[in-house]
Amino acid sequence: MSEKSRVVFITGAGSGFGRGLAQALDAKGDRLCLTDINGAALQETAAMLVGEPQCLTFDVSSEADFAEAITACVEHYGRLDAIVNNAGVGGPIRSIIETTEKDMDRYFAVNTKSVLFGMKHAIPVMLQRGGGIVLNVASMAGLNAAPGIGAYCAAKHAVVGLTKTAAIEFGAMGVRVNAICPFFVPTPLVMDIAEPKKLEGFTSQNPMKRMGTVEEIVNVMVAMLDPSSSYLNGQAIAVDGGFSSI
Ligand SMILES: NC(=O)c1ccc[n+]([C@@H]2O[C@H](COP(=O)([O-])OP(=O)(O)OC[C@H]3O[C@@H](n4cnc5c(N)ncnc54)[C@H](O)[C@@H]3O)[C@@H](O)[C@H]2O)c1
Repeated sequence: MSEKSRVVFITGAGSGFGRGLAQALDAKGDRLCLTDINGAALQETAAMLVGEPQCLTFDVSSEADFAEAITACVEHYGRLDAIVNNAGVGGPIRSIIETTEKDMDRYFAVNTKSVLFGMKHAIPVMLQRGGGIVLNVASMAGLNAAPGIGAYCAAKHAVVGLTKTAAIEFGAMGVRVNAICPFFVPTPLVMDIAEPKKLEGFTSQNPMKRMGTVEEIVNVMVAMLDPSSSYLNGQAIAVDGGFSSI
């Protein structure tokens, strides 16, 4: 891995998409700053890689801790080329009238504010080198209604709004900002909370009649992060088996 290979900062790298992306980018020779609230899971991801990633354990819902992690990454590698705001939480399936203020606060803190903090503290560093790439992990629930997960849906719609706004604010300065919007994939986030029957209800409505796989999402993330995708900006790309086209 040369000093020339780019540096990618990934949140939620201890599991699911974040872990899969770490493996894919490591195989391509990127230098990685892997972060998660779960330090043990992060070490498991690091052990799967050929390269030696920097590993930082912090909670993305703390702006101070997020800012400190970006600073630590830049001190370690001397640069930051891309950030993937991927960390997120799911929760129990509840209708709007069962949804609590606590639900809203949790989803907005971990799934939305974290995206603001990541962009706010990473983009200035990228601008110093003339540009960079931001990839925010939203959801098909960031584009469509999602009965039973209204608070999550609202938080992910907000991620799409932040993404499009940042893309317009920084596009002329060399930073491109996009979001990926996956349909259900059986990661711990989904499997730990969803009742199988309700999940079947969602997948039966999907044109492909199945959930996605981590690899299918990661493949698109890698393409969106590739320098050759240089005209892709301000988009919320659905990777959903056609669900959003219904
Ligand atoms: N799996 C799906 O079906 C699906 C679909 C659409 C979008 N998403 C989104 O994809 C992203 C990744 O989810 P996943 O499915 O890989 O889930 P996952 O549970 O496998 O991984 C999420 C990771 O985020 C970490 N994390 C949680 N809270 C954190 C916090 N406060 N600070 C730092 N790290 C924290 C967890 O420890 C975990 O390692 C999330 O933003 C999720 O909302 C998932």
